[in-house]
Amino acid sequence: MDRREFVEGCALGATALASAALSSTAWAANAQPRRYARVLLVDELDQPIKASRLRPQVNYVFHYPFEATPVFLLDLGKATQPTRLLTKDKLAYDWPGGVGQRRSVVAFSAICAHQLVYPNKDLSFISFRKGPVANPQTPSRGNDLIHCCADHSQYDPARGAQVLGGPAEQPLCAVLLEHDPATDQLTATGTLGGELFDAFFKKYEMKLSLEAGPAARNAVAERSVVRELERFCRNPVRC
Ligand code: FES
Repeated sequence: MDRREFVEGCALGATALASAALSSTAWAANAQPRRYARVLLVDELDQPIKASRLRPQVNYVFHYPFEATPVFLLDLGKATQPTRLLTKDKLAYDWPGGVGQRRSVVAFSAICAHQLVYPNKDLSFISFRKGPVANPQTPSRGNDLIHCCADHSQYDPARGAQVLGGPAEQPLCAVLLEHDPATDQLTATGTLGGELFDAFFKKYEMKLSLEAGPAARNAVAERSVVRELERFCRNPVRC
């Protein structure tokens, strides 16, 4: 990391901290936030998404920070708390909690931290599940979790997508959001936690080139369209 990236990372961390009302000492963590383009979240008509109009406990998907990397946007319907987490490489970080009036709006990379399963237009094995997951192979580790049906990793989106069950070795990478209280708009600003984008592009190079064409690895700029998972994906699997 060069000096500029380091300074930008620190600035982003400071913003996240302020919004989470954490003390400055909390950032004695060693996994730094990574800054990407500031991207306004918009609907399919290119109108800014209003945080208070998101339907609680519904899966929404947008792409960030690259054209082919999906993100879950969720209004959990309840306030969230800052949570200290660890990446697979034992780097600590402080997830700042949700944004919006109730601090209930969160965003996480939708790339499973186990073997990189992700939602695309044809199929999704991973999604937020309201209530417990009813699957005979896997007891639900709680209610309202993100569940990956591939090998049954379970993540708690109210605690920074901490792993509660299954083979995943780290939380889903958090996507940092800013909420403007005056306009109720949401802007994605960066990521925090264990990124898996390099491994994702390596594993799915051919597939992504068919799905997204040569733009797959382009950084998203300015705006990203938010869709309900049920509209984005033809077959959202519920195991
Ligand atoms: S790919 Fe998600 S649990 Fe294995």
